[in-house]
Amino acid sequence: MPVPKSVRWHDGRLWLLDQRALPDVVSEIELHDAGEVAVAIRDLVVRGAPAIGIAAAYGMALAWRAGEDLDSAAKTLLAARPTAVNLAWAVRRMLAVGANGGDLVEEARTIHAEDAAMCRAIGRHGGHLIAPDANLLTHCNAGALAVSELGTATAPMYLAHERGVPFHVFVDETRPVLQGARLTAWELGAAGIDCTLICDGAAAHLMGLGQVDLVIVGTDRVTANGDVVNKIGTRALAIAAKWHDVPFYVACPASTFDSATPTGADVAIEERGAEELTASIPVPAQVRVRNPAFDVTPAELVTGYITDRGLFDDATGFDQGGV
Ligand code: MRU
Repeated sequence: MPVPKSVRWHDGRLWLLDQRALPDVVSEIELHDAGEVAVAIRDLVVRGAPAIGIAAAYGMALAWRAGEDLDSAAKTLLAARPTAVNLAWAVRRMLAVGANGGDLVEEARTIHAEDAAMCRAIGRHGGHLIAPDANLLTHCNAGALAVSELGTATAPMYLAHERGVPFHVFVDETRPVLQGARLTAWELGAAGIDCTLICDGAAAHLMGLGQVDLVIVGTDRVTANGDVVNKIGTRALAIAAKWHDVPFYVACPASTFDSATPTGADVAIEERGAEELTASIPVPAQVRVRNPAFDVTPAELVTGYITDRGLFDDATGFDQGGV
């Protein structure tokens, strides 16, 4: 049984699956304007780079349909979260269509449909990496819930599962918001894919035991030199994978390549509120907390990029296309 869609446009209305409450409560929220969409992005109602881009595109469409100022809607949406390049990419694309007198509802629907096609292509290009009886490991949620459908890191898994290939996935819980435990384990389980939840610190240990054959993660941005910006903890995972000689793959659609930004060091890394760390654990009041939401994995630690255009060992020369 597949999980519900993260973003749904139906009869001219926008609905987002509220990912904060998953998997305990499965509910949708209707969004009425760009401001509400920006708040939903900031508060992680919708999250995951491609899904953020799709939601922002619909936010722009809502503003256009209401006759609102598109530049101001764009500014509000762009301020929601800084790291995932898909947000700026989608907003820029919508502004360009608006400037040419185009239909922004149609354009948002096109971005949504293109994302689904890109995820399927990623699945096709990465499927052969999953050998029978392989043990995979993934971090955060780069699954169906983070995109339109199928996911990026999970797309090769879903297609391999469809073909009847037996394999198993270790799922990092992904502190502090637990996208791995709450979202990835939930959606893989719902699809009947064999998976085991681990705490983030267990990944290197399992690699040391020879129990991980392959790591596949998603990304919020790949810079011109191939650096990968993704959920906090990805860099440690990539370093551990390199040391243990475990292949480390990054799955991403064209919309996640940012050829205008030279390296990962040039990307704004979002720092989120301390309460995300402290909400569920007893922490003495005087303790200082930092909560960087993403980190940078140097290109040299990446074995390959599984993209909608093919599988590449080098990300240079990629761009987002379409804008
Ligand atoms: O903070 P989040 O949940 O938006 O972070 C999501 C990730 O880091 C994903 O790995 C990334 O956006 C890729 S989603 C296909």
